[in-house]
Amino acid sequence: RLELAALYRDFTVYAAKEVTVCGWVKTIRDSKALGFIELNDGSTFKNLQVVFEESKINNFKEVTKFNVGSAVIVTGTVVLTPEAKQPYEIHAAQITLEGASTPDYPLQKKRHSLEFLRSISYLRPRTNTFNAVFRVRSVTAYAIHKFFNERGFVYAHTPLITASDCEGAGEMFRVTTLDPVNPPLTEDGRVDFSQDFFGKPANLTVSGQLEAECMAMAFGNVYTFGPTFRAEKSNTTRHAAEFWMVEPEMAFADLDDDMRIVQEMMKYVIRYVLDTCPDEMAFFNQFYDKELIARLESLVEADFAHVTYTEAIELLEQHKDQFEYPVFWGCDLQTEHERYLTEQIFKKPVFVTDYPREIKAFYMRLNDDQKTVAAMDLLVPGIGEIVGGSQREERLDVLLKSLEYFKLDPKDYSWYLDLRKYGGTKHCGFGLGFERLVMYMTGVSNIRDVLPFPRTTGSAEY
Ligand code: 4AD
Ligand code: MG
Repeated sequence: RLELAALYRDFTVYAAKEVTVCGWVKTIRDSKALGFIELNDGSTFKNLQVVFEESKINNFKEVTKFNVGSAVIVTGTVVLTPEAKQPYEIHAAQITLEGASTPDYPLQKKRHSLEFLRSISYLRPRTNTFNAVFRVRSVTAYAIHKFFNERGFVYAHTPLITASDCEGAGEMFRVTTLDPVNPPLTEDGRVDFSQDFFGKPANLTVSGQLEAECMAMAFGNVYTFGPTFRAEKSNTTRHAAEFWMVEPEMAFADLDDDMRIVQEMMKYVIRYVLDTCPDEMAFFNQFYDKELIARLESLVEADFAHVTYTEAIELLEQHKDQFEYPVFWGCDLQTEHERYLTEQIFKKPVFVTDYPREIKAFYMRLNDDQKTVAAMDLLVPGIGEIVGGSQREERLDVLLKSLEYFKLDPKDYSWYLDLRKYGGTKHCGFGLGFERLVMYMTGVSNIRDVLPFPRTTGSAEY
């Protein structure tokens, strides 16, 4: 069987030849002795037009009754059609029904809303939009692996079940084998976690960073790329309870190196996807964001902007009447602030660095001013924060004080602290929200539409 992608690539080679292709019927129509099927097998964004005639196939009547969504196998001749919309089509000699579809197939030939399509996650990959989104998602993931591997980074697999809370925000999903309704109790009436599978409380990871740091202290440059879980209750268009994160970690490197790698990675990945998925990107540009390709192209050309948090606050204070949330030194930047900075003030991606320590995580390196940390977020138009990273605190005494500052128990971080005792070095890293990158690449504005099976509050079917 010939994949439609291969036919699309080399259709002149197949001209006048007989081929066999498979796929699902996207549309079907007929008049008298002639009919047309638009077919797609998922290997390419482009549909194939199949022409069938009563005089050429032996089951014409049967084929005209095929419903949209049916799986079929077609053998026929490739015919070039330079004067038509599509450059070639297939004239069928034989059409076999592999799997029928019933007339109530939900994806009929009309534009369905994204909300409706969310309610049928099991079928939506067959629509144009999700065919394009999930292929771009796949190609983007490949580009990320390619970028880091070309630079000698080791792909580190960090655990999904862990006892530590990397971000210290307490937004973890518990993993337990205890009965939630009647858990075993200790003599003083507390849940007896010694009877739990791991003998202590465990949770799904919120970030692989701490383990990635261990790997970086052996391999120098590493990256993780895997699922992460957050029990944030925030019901927004950019938060999911299960999302994928890319977390590079680099030894002997500081915050400037960190920003350099972020920028190189973003440009590399965008270039790769633009070059690899021209049809999908043209589709997004037409139906989702008319500026998309122009914006991505210009991003690859210029350097990203950079401001410190303190400078960002000064800039935002000049526009305070624009915001719902107040702006002041020490405030956590809200999405509206982030988007204003990148969309209205800089009009391109912008790094914000050196945040107040109290709004960031315990592991970030304390700056000499004792008030800010060597943190950096990358904000992009349309989304806001897409990357969060920092230089890590390598000084054991300062790190201990930081745990105390955040009221975290050093006992829970003993191995992380010991890393600093055994040849700890200056090091840095970041976390890229993979779904947010896919949103940025496609112009799709809801995180639920870039995850094949999104997990958000209250939704975990399939
Ligand atoms: O800023 P965050 O919380 O940083 C960390 O987890 C660090 N440990 C990363 C590191 O330095 N290795 O998360 C990193 C990125 C965010 O910038 C955002 O893009 C994404 O992960 N993210 C989410 N994406 C979707 N849904 C959520 N609930 C997300 N929370 C964070
Ligand atoms: Mg962050």
